[in-house]
Amino acid sequence: MDARPNSPEARDISYHMHGYTNARKHEEAGPLIIEKGDGIYVEDLAGNRYIEAMAGLWSVAVGFSEKRLVDAAVRQMSKLPYYHDFGSKSHSPLIDLAEKLVQMAPVPMSKAYFTNSGSEANDTAMKMIWYRSNALGQPARKKIISRIRGYHGVTIATASLTGLPNNHNSFDLPIANVLHTSTPHHWREALPNESEGEFSSRLADDLEKLILAEGPETIAAFFGEPIMGAGGVIVPPAGYWEKIQAVLSKYDILLVADEVICGFGRTGEMFGSQTFGIRPDIMVLSKQISSSYLPISALLINEKVFEPIADESNRIGTFGHGFTGGGHPVAAAVALENLKLIEERDLVGNARTVGAHMQKRLRKLASHPLVGEVRGVGLIAAVELVGDKANKMPWETAGALGGLVNGFMQQNGVISRNMGDALAFCPPLIITEPQVDQVIDAFERSLEAAVKQVRNWRARLPCRLVSLL
Ligand SMILES: Cc1ncc(COP(=O)(O)O)c(C=O)c1O
Repeated sequence: MDARPNSPEARDISYHMHGYTNARKHEEAGPLIIEKGDGIYVEDLAGNRYIEAMAGLWSVAVGFSEKRLVDAAVRQMSKLPYYHDFGSKSHSPLIDLAEKLVQMAPVPMSKAYFTNSGSEANDTAMKMIWYRSNALGQPARKKIISRIRGYHGVTIATASLTGLPNNHNSFDLPIANVLHTSTPHHWREALPNESEGEFSSRLADDLEKLILAEGPETIAAFFGEPIMGAGGVIVPPAGYWEKIQAVLSKYDILLVADEVICGFGRTGEMFGSQTFGIRPDIMVLSKQISSSYLPISALLINEKVFEPIADESNRIGTFGHGFTGGGHPVAAAVALENLKLIEERDLVGNARTVGAHMQKRLRKLASHPLVGEVRGVGLIAAVELVGDKANKMPWETAGALGGLVNGFMQQNGVISRNMGDALAFCPPLIITEPQVDQVIDAFERSLEAAVKQVRNWRARLPCRLVSLL
């Protein structure tokens, strides 16, 4: 890090508080300042180039230098830089994008509603669900079920839906009326000799028990990501979504598919809901909708959701919710152009074919002594690292090995991200097979560097401990 008092690094430490960062460690280590982007690459201030193997935050589908998105933004900025949709106002990019999204949906959807982030979209979904319950004369139906290790955002309500301790600790969350059910992670959570199908049935039973214990008439909705992303790229086991949906329909509970990561091609289908046979009532979309060139998110709602909400807004006089920037014309124009690019260049097909190559190469590492599990679909994957393979136990403390390998990846020219000990891969959808090979070659080198460190650590342990590992 450049330690001069007026360096960008020093000024970042002085003036900028970061998201998802240990603020004290940051004062010591300083930032990695990314200055420009080009295709799947980004470059830091010192001119070091990295493959962005996380597509930023799971989001830059078309890469970091797409001129057509820049041109779309400039065109719209020059014509109508801002407008909104309150009080029946509208504008062309918004209408075009709403129509496009409803037409793209894999199940019949009625309307699109626009927000600015995944958190805002999920927060809005919760509010719509509560409003709908009141509209239907079911004021007791307010509880929402999500899953341990699910991720749905960071507002007060959506951090409550999120099932990760770091989003609750010291924030006094979760709020009331949010319940968490089990994580569909077969490798870690299954009982000895339990098949994927049996595990899925057990999780559906867990869900049903929770619903019955709380009272089915109090449960409004279930939120789930087709693949859990920030919880560690957890791919659901065989039969999971079918069995979960059977329980939800039995008790007339709405299903919200949080497609914020999976949507727009990530899994090798346009939506994760298609990959896993999910039939949602609400779909939550963000990130790859605009390749995150500008913030925009959307909810798609079906008739079952829209109709009672429309009636209630008529009774009250308005649907009293909306964001100043919701459906911003420049963001909507960029999203439309981005979706056009995803279709024209068949980036969904690329996620399928190049993704198959990435999955195959990663799975070859399954026998590596530090690899516990390799999981993923299409262009999203994680490798869960372990210090003790037989017992699926971490090295030193949970997350230490993930952090170590993630650091080596950066030294090897690849930006990845460790969620605890799960190292994630989620590159731009434009990535090619040779570029995937570069990422995985760097990963292999990083694993070997980690092996040396783990050996040194073992050598320093007392003999009786080593025999346990
Ligand atoms: C599945 C999912 N839902 C919601 C969110 C929250 O989105 P945002 O960070 O835009 O608020 C994220 C962010 O990573 C996500 O992965």
